[in-house]
Amino acid sequence: MIVARARANANVALAKYWGKRDEALNLPFTGSISVTLDGLETHVSLALVPRSSSDRVRMNGAPALAAEAQRVSRFLDLVRAQAHAATRVEVDLESNFPVAAGLASSASTFAALALASNRAFGLDLSPEQLSVLARRGSGSAARSIHGGFVEWLAGEAADGLDSRAVQVAPAHHWSIGIVVAVTDEGRKKVGSREGMAIAARESPFFRAWLETHAADAAAIRSGIWARDLLLVGEAAEHNCLKMHAASLAARPSLLYWTPATVAVIHRVRELRADGLEAYFTIDAGPQVKVLCRAEDRAQVAEQIARVPGVRRVLLSAPGPGAEVLATR
Ligand code: PMV
Repeated sequence: MIVARARANANVALAKYWGKRDEALNLPFTGSISVTLDGLETHVSLALVPRSSSDRVRMNGAPALAAEAQRVSRFLDLVRAQAHAATRVEVDLESNFPVAAGLASSASTFAALALASNRAFGLDLSPEQLSVLARRGSGSAARSIHGGFVEWLAGEAADGLDSRAVQVAPAHHWSIGIVVAVTDEGRKKVGSREGMAIAARESPFFRAWLETHAADAAAIRSGIWARDLLLVGEAAEHNCLKMHAASLAARPSLLYWTPATVAVIHRVRELRADGLEAYFTIDAGPQVKVLCRAEDRAQVAEQIARVPGVRRVLLSAPGPGAEVLATR
């Protein structure tokens, strides 16, 4: 029995992916830029089970919910098709952070699955091809293949083979602090797939979101290269607020924030007014990620942890790309 184990880290988008030009292939309207998060990891163990007639998927030690198991199975079908194989698998997924609550567990899950299944099925894909494969599981997973600062290029090809992530700068290029404020550990009600489809279809502001996205991405890219926290932080906040504004303005309206999310936004602004450089960004959920200087991270974390409604804070920094841990 072949068993492959792999690890991938979550990532947080600074210039966000929100809207697909192709729903089936997870092809985005725009590019996006993220930072891979140190310490927020998903480990995948994948075993080929030749005599089995179905995949078995476990998450954090328990059988996965039917919808999640199906999503993993559909992803594995893509791998099996490429490998000309029919073998079923047993998959064990373990994440050390809240899943499906706007902390991009799907990014680390499908990036790790891409690596483990590539190895187990002997596909021998390049990092570029692994990013294309991971994208099919979850768009943001394309970025978790790489470490540090990562850009997912939207691509133009109808088959999506040029829609893949590349590294903008490695983790050691710029040591910033990232504080994750966990405000709610539950599952989000509207997943990102459905949320971005509603925003694209039903928001009068969606066009403005698309039209102004490239300028944010350009500022963030050059800010990363120049290690300019002000430039990156302001552009990331602006980009995040536009994504949420476009979603709020949809019918039905999408409101991912809880009172604690808003309280953290206010606290970050107060910290900044008091001279502590900190910037927030929020994905499709209630958690807030705060960017700051590496040397300010403990102080920022202490301040954010005191905000009413914040359940805990996770300390992070730019982290490593996905990696195969073992095969036997
Ligand atoms: O990869 P998905 O389908 O979970 O979408 C991720 C969407 C956001 O997290 C809101 C933005 C992003 O670029 O990660």
